[in-house]
Order: sequence, then C-alpha cells, then structure tokens
Amino acid sequence: MSFKCCCWSWNVEEPVIRENKNKDYPWDIYTLKELITATNNFHNDNKIGEGGFGSVYWGRTSKGVEIAVKRLKAMTAKAEMEFAVEVEILGRVRHANLLGLRGFYAGGDERLIVYDYMPNHSLITHLHGHLATDVLLDWRRRLGIAIGSAEGLAYLHHEANPHIIHRDIKASNVLLDSEFQAKVADFGFAKLIPEGVSHLTTRVKGTLGYLAPEYAMWGKVSESCDVYSFGILLLEIVSARKPIEKLPGGVKRDIVQWATPIVEKGNFDVVADPKMRGKFDKAQLKNAILIALQCTDGNPDNRPSMIEVVNWLKVGIGRRAKEVVHVRDMVVEDEDDDEDDTDYESYGGPVAARRAWASSNMR
Ligand SMILES: Nc1ncnc2c1ncn2[C@@H]1O[C@H](COP(=O)(O)OP(=O)(O)OP(=O)(O)O)[C@@H](O)[C@H]1O
Ligand SMILES: [Mg+2]
Repeated sequence: MSFKCCCWSWNVEEPVIRENKNKDYPWDIYTLKELITATNNFHNDNKIGEGGFGSVYWGRTSKGVEIAVKRLKAMTAKAEMEFAVEVEILGRVRHANLLGLRGFYAGGDERLIVYDYMPNHSLITHLHGHLATDVLLDWRRRLGIAIGSAEGLAYLHHEANPHIIHRDIKASNVLLDSEFQAKVADFGFAKLIPEGVSHLTTRVKGTLGYLAPEYAMWGKVSESCDVYSFGILLLEIVSARKPIEKLPGGVKRDIVQWATPIVEKGNFDVVADPKMRGKFDKAQLKNAILIALQCTDGNPDNRPSMIEVVNWLKVGIGRRAKEVVHVRDMVVEDEDDDEDDTDYESYGGPVAARRAWASSNMR
C-alpha cells in the first residue's frame, strides 16, 4: 500500500520522502533528531494530551519556535492511513481558522506530525477540563470561537478544492491560539469530495454525541454531517454541557434533547453556561441556540450550509449579510426586550421528529 499527495509519497515498508519545494504549502520535513531534541525526547513533562492517534507533545525548535508534535502510538494500517490523510489534507489547506501544519516525519516505525502550538489549548479544556473554573471564555470569546470554527468549516466545504468533509468536529478538535481564535484541527478522518458528488457512503468514524443520525445509522456522509456536529458543538459552547450526559438510572440524554424543551418554553437564558453569570448578549445567545437547533435537525435537507451558519451567527438566523445594518439595529433593540418573538418552528426545527430519533437511539 502506498499513499501519495501533491508533494511527497512513501511506501509503508520503505519511506521515500521528497523535499517540499512548493511554497504554496510551506511545511517542512523534519528529521527525527530535530523533533527528539525539540520535545526533550518526548519527555512526559512535555506531554500536552493524548487521543486516539497517539500522544501530543509540546516542543521548541532550534529556531525557538513553539510546536506541538503528535506521535503515532501504534503502526497499524488504520493509523498509518489516518497519518497520511491528516498530512495530505492539512498540507493542502490554509485558512486562519484551520490549525497550521508545520511539517512531519515518517521513517521506520515513527510517524510524527508537527503543528503550530496553540497556547490556549482546546475548547474542551475550557468547557469541561482543568481551565473550566477559570472562566476565560466570556460571551464575546465564545461567539468569536463559534464564528471562527464555522468559517474554517465553510472554507473546507465550499472553498477547498476538492471540497473536504471533516467528520470529527468536536470540542477537543477546536484549538485556541493566543488571541482565543479558533483553529479547527484533526483531519485524520476527513474525506475529499469529488466534484459533483452529493454524498458518499463510508464506514462510520467520528465521536459519539456529535454524529448526524443518517451518518451514524447508514454511513451516509455529506457536508451536512459536519453541520450537525457543528450544531452540537455550538450548543456545547453556549451551555458548557457535554454532548451526551448520563442520567440517574443509566439513560443517556444528548444536548439537543436537553435544550429543546427549554427552548420551546422560550427560556433561552437557561441554556447559557451559568459560569457566565448572565453576562451575555441575550439576542446573540438566542440566535446561536436557534442556529444550533437548525444545524442538528434530524433531516439533513433541513440543515443550513456552513456559509449560511457563518452569516447567521454574524447577522441573525434566516437573514442575509446585506441586511447587516438593519439587523444590528434590531439586536440593540432586542437587548431590552425579553420577549421571545422568534418563530422557532419557521426555521425548520422539527423538534418532535428529532426527539423521536434521539430517544430511540440513546437507550
Ligand atoms: N497544536 C496543538 N497545540 C496545543 N495543544 C494541542 C495541539 N494539538 C493537540 N493538542 C492537545 O492535545 C490533546 C490531544 O489531541 P488529540 O487530537 O490527539 O486527541 P483528542 O482530540 O483529544 O481525541 P481524538 O483522538 O478523538 O481526536 C488535545 O485535546 C489538545 O488539548
Ligand atoms: Mg483531536
């Protein structure tokens, strides 16, 4: 088996790596020695985290640049494929909201991917991890992260050529730079979508709680699977609740099942993370929740595109960017108006249908 991409190729048994001379993809091929030195021989103290692929280490290059190095833990064909897909796809894309690939090393049993180091860790650390109590994510930052991740995804779906479906959008795969700008990471499960193809049928990959129903059940993958995962992520950003929680008695409830009855009563503020202590723009919060619910519609045809999501997050659900001035006026008015005047059902939120699907799958 061999993998090829635009600038390099190798054979699983015998790595052959060519130097990258394409300045459109300014990543490097590192030597093992360089990365060993940078990470203090992959010292445990340098370890930032661990995922399905392997461990991630902080390091500093000889030029003084901070890097994150992901080290493949086991050389299986599946893991090697993930490595190849990640390097191939990240090597093709450049966007302010996608994690930058600095380079890689492939030789012997060692597969290493080198990224820009993200000093503010991943979203999961702030929502559910050791930084959650510090509450560094105020509403402005949360909305900025939501818009940034949406823009990264919109680029993958609509601008990258061929189009790319990420397939593993979740809180641990949204990293935060020094300005808390979102960087979508982890392309190991991504799929390139050939021109003119509306969906593919594949083996199901991804993370429980974020999987669109048509994908989880039938392996039907399209851009709208990412839209669904983004909707879950958006609710998570707003509420700091986990995508799935276990209720007493062992029954599992997903975040949409939790939020839907609250939203139906118009209690949008109750969905907000209590750690924000009520400090958020009510109209923006309501807007984000409604967008999340539309993204998680059980029917993929009712979900918006990521371009629509970006626009709606910026100017209001169901509205277009050109109405921005008018909408901005409306948002200011709405701040003093607690009344829920949004017709939720008109945005295609078939709550009952989604609930039926969810309850049959969550037990
Ligand atoms: N470039 C980076 N800069 C800073 N921290 C990073 C970077 N890349 C990954 N991390 C950290 O390492 C952790 C592990 O990442 P990894 O992608 O291996 O696993 P995961 O996302 O938690 O799970 P999965 O394997 O299911 O994707 C992340 O949660 C993140 O906090
Ligand atoms: Mg990850």
